[in-house]
Amino acid sequence: MTIQTIATTPFAGQRPGTSGLRKKVTEFQQPGYLENFVEAIFLTLGALGEVQGRTLVLGGDGRYFNRQAIQTILRMAAAHGVGRVLVGRGGILSTPAVSCVIRKRAALGGIVLSASHNPGGPDGDFGIKYNIDNGGPAPEKITDAIYEHTKTLSSYRISDAGPVDLDSIGSIRLEGMEVEVIDSVADYAELMAGLFDFDAIRALFQRGFTMRFDGMHAVSGPYAKAIIEGMLGAPAGTVVNAEPLEDFGGHHPDPNPVNAAELIALMDGPDAPDFGAASDGDGDRNMIVGRKLAVSPSDSLAIIAANATVAPGYRDGIKGIARSMPTSQAADRVANALGVSCFETPTGWKYFGNLLDAGLATLCGEESYGTGSMHIREKDGVWAVLFWLNLIAATGKSVNEIVQEHWARFGRNYYSRHDYEAVDAGAANAMMEALRGKLESLAGQTLGDFRVQLADDFTYTDPVDNSVSSRQGVRIVMTDGSRIVLRLSGTGTEGATVRLYLERYEADPARHNLDTQQALAPLIAIAEQVSGLKARTGREQPSVVT
Ligand code: G1P
Ligand code: ZN
Repeated sequence: MTIQTIATTPFAGQRPGTSGLRKKVTEFQQPGYLENFVEAIFLTLGALGEVQGRTLVLGGDGRYFNRQAIQTILRMAAAHGVGRVLVGRGGILSTPAVSCVIRKRAALGGIVLSASHNPGGPDGDFGIKYNIDNGGPAPEKITDAIYEHTKTLSSYRISDAGPVDLDSIGSIRLEGMEVEVIDSVADYAELMAGLFDFDAIRALFQRGFTMRFDGMHAVSGPYAKAIIEGMLGAPAGTVVNAEPLEDFGGHHPDPNPVNAAELIALMDGPDAPDFGAASDGDGDRNMIVGRKLAVSPSDSLAIIAANATVAPGYRDGIKGIARSMPTSQAADRVANALGVSCFETPTGWKYFGNLLDAGLATLCGEESYGTGSMHIREKDGVWAVLFWLNLIAATGKSVNEIVQEHWARFGRNYYSRHDYEAVDAGAANAMMEALRGKLESLAGQTLGDFRVQLADDFTYTDPVDNSVSSRQGVRIVMTDGSRIVLRLSGTGTEGATVRLYLERYEADPARHNLDTQQALAPLIAIAEQVSGLKARTGREQPSVVT
């Protein structure tokens, strides 16, 4: 075994976004492409004086190229003097599990291999992300430094050792480094057992409560199987599509009513179990479904917050809630009732890190099926499902009863997101520019039945470090709290994706069971009138409505 220095030419466009570097598998397969980015990570950590002898966590969602990338990263880690790498067995670690293991083992950080909910397989996407010692995604100053290195480096260091056996638990030496293959689930399962009332949930299943968890052939399957079937005693077969596949079985591993159509059909039909749930490619997203009812993620956050104390890990109450700006204001109403703060952050989980670290928020969530808490620094799909199980076990109520009672108490925030995917980037940018140009004149205007109270491009000032993030999405807020939000996706890999978010508040319980799109129709019309979305993108309909 020797360590080699291999000459390379920097690759253009290796700028990590809010979720790390996400590209087509074919791009990652170019000689030196992955190596360039990994070298840039080690150069960045090295410049901080942090690599030698330290521990890193490494794993991914099992998608195509996962194993190969892990072998490369291990050989490069060894060449850079890393002391020890903890790798999930078979290369498998969900994103929340990486965050958990980093924190539990006091590691320097971790490398997550995933493109989250983006399709996998040879023609799909791959991704790589660096997480720091708090278990959360690296802050911008680190991702910027990584990017700068990718532009200037001229070589990378790698050991020429052969592949490591990733399938047997135990320790192996690679150059001077220890590779420890760990159980992918154990640390995470132990954390969950400390947060939730597993006895109560076990008793719930013993009473005949039925559930289906759809792993979508992605990474959360093994976690759900080990915890829900193994530790909580749900009958075998409760977790379906539990085996992570390199191409996710050809499906889109994004839990929403469109992609998890099979689960929704089951929950709408005569054989529906009591509870349905699904998670995404890397296990950080969740969808909660009752009989004939998919719970909106914004409502789920609010309901978890309103009932937090049923779970032992939150028995003492919550310090605050944080939600991304486009997420509905349902959580704000709960925060208000509890007398705690509700923070409004830009889209992307990384903005929650400072609030959680500073103890300002306990729970956080995004409308994009992401919910989580201070227990780790990523959103957490299985955690959200376990919270709901704990809530059902503690109250003896169905998902429907819990949701209806929540609306009756706090009012209902009708909510929907319309995505226009893979549209022409120039046209999408031009639309956003035109909108920004109009904002000042919109304030105070009457639009249909609404009056505009505020129209701006959201700017966030982090209350902990005072950093400012501007141009985070155009919002048009009406005097009754209804909102229209428009922004461009930062995670798409094809053209541009326009996201239109719509929200309308309804206090009257007699009007809590309208069709969501109908309830939002007046706002949809105003959004079109103000943005000219259809003409600009050449699309008559959104690609996905959630
Ligand atoms: C999307 C979601 C956002 C989430 C991100 C990463 O980002 O909208 O809430 O944090 O994926 O999972 P977007 O494509 O909208 O930039
Ligand atoms: Zn994800």
